[in-house]
Amino acid sequence: MSAHPFTGMNTISTDIEGRELREVFVESLEYQELLRLRFNELRKPLGLEWTEAEGEADKLDRHFGLYHREVLVGSVVVATLKTGFAKLRQIAVANSQQGHGVGKSLMAAIESFLAREGVKRFELHARVDVAGFYDSLAYHQQGQIFEEIGLPHVKMIKLLRRNESA
Ligand SMILES: CC(C)(COP(=O)(O)OP(=O)(O)OC[C@H]1O[C@@H](n2cnc3c(N)ncnc32)[C@H](O)[C@@H]1OP(=O)(O)O)[C@@H](O)C(=O)NCCC(=O)NCCS
Repeated sequence: MSAHPFTGMNTISTDIEGRELREVFVESLEYQELLRLRFNELRKPLGLEWTEAEGEADKLDRHFGLYHREVLVGSVVVATLKTGFAKLRQIAVANSQQGHGVGKSLMAAIESFLAREGVKRFELHARVDVAGFYDSLAYHQQGQIFEEIGLPHVKMIKLLRRNESA
């Protein structure tokens, strides 16, 4: 892992297209950029603002950006539920980059980073109309459909078997 001098982030891994997964620290300028990306892709289209509870959750969770040639193209928030269990939330790819494998690369990079840290079970709340994206990444639906931020969601999980890395 390499630190970027004078910035609020560390590079974790690079994919074959040269996209870099970086951990971004809350309150940094880079975090503000992640927040804008998440807002533009996940809240603005619904006419919603951030809630106070979401701001508080952000302070507890970890934030990751995917960068291509220094441009932020995707982001994900990670909550540790208990040892070996992680919840991924607010996965977003910049609108102009969607449909070109960026989301898939982001998920592969964060899963393998967390797997190296010992995570064996990933979970997330998928918008029902996006569940196919997670299906294609070997996530399985669990339980009933429920409502979050006014949209139908479903819980999806992925289990790594013993000795398997993401
Ligand atoms: C959902 C999102 C993260 C996917 O990222 P992306 O870069 O567009 O997706 P990719 O190009 O990496 O697609 C990977 C695979 O998932 C499939 N896929 C992508 N979006 C999909 C969707 N909405 N429904 C079903 N399948 C989808 C692709 O067809 C592709 O399949 P393939 O591997 O068989 O070719 C992105 O479109 C996005 O940010 N959307 C707006 C915000 C959002 O909805 N976030 C998720 C909230 S749960």
